Amino acid sequence: MKSIYGAVIASYHRARHTDQFFDTFYGIFLRKSPEIQLMFVHTDFPHQKLMLKESLLELLLFAECPAECEVIQRIGRRHTELKVKPEMYAMWVDALCEALALHDPEFSADLEQAWRNAMQPGIDLMLTVAKPPSGPGNRSRK
Ligand code: HEM
Repeated sequence: MKSIYGAVIASYHRARHTDQFFDTFYGIFLRKSPEIQLMFVHTDFPHQKLMLKESLLELLLFAECPAECEVIQRIGRRHTELKVKPEMYAMWVDALCEALALHDPEFSADLEQAWRNAMQPGIDLMLTVAKPPSGPGNRSRK
């Protein structure tokens, strides 16, 4: 079966050819806002980069084959606990595309759009589970 996101997967392989891609991504993402930077002050980045590598693949798989995806839902809930705001996801995708432009020699405007389309279903799912509980008052969160 031919993958709809074959071009995106090929781009991912070219970009992560050197491990620098993930450093570049976090460098760009953290500069998007002081609030984001603060959220990562205690982060173990070698571990975080591994988590990102895996979760990016989960997002790609989910776009390719939407089904109930407990992994993405769990990441979404975790990000609610971390107090990640919906608008930060747009900065995340922008940072991803900027890092890809630096590390994928074949990056193009079409490929950028394909990447954005590929990331969006997983992000939408993360945001769906991230919605605060309805009704008055806020339930306490861990
Ligand atoms: C689709 C987009 C994103 C994906 C796939 C993703 C993925 C992940 C994963 C897999 C983890 C590790 C979770 C765990 O330890 O259980 C994580 C942690 C984290 N993410 Fe994201 N993330 C995304 C967007 C964001 C955004 C927009 C922010 C906003 C600031 C953010 C901030 C964080 C923080 C602060 C942590 C915890 C770091 C630590 O442990 O110190 N993430 N992310």
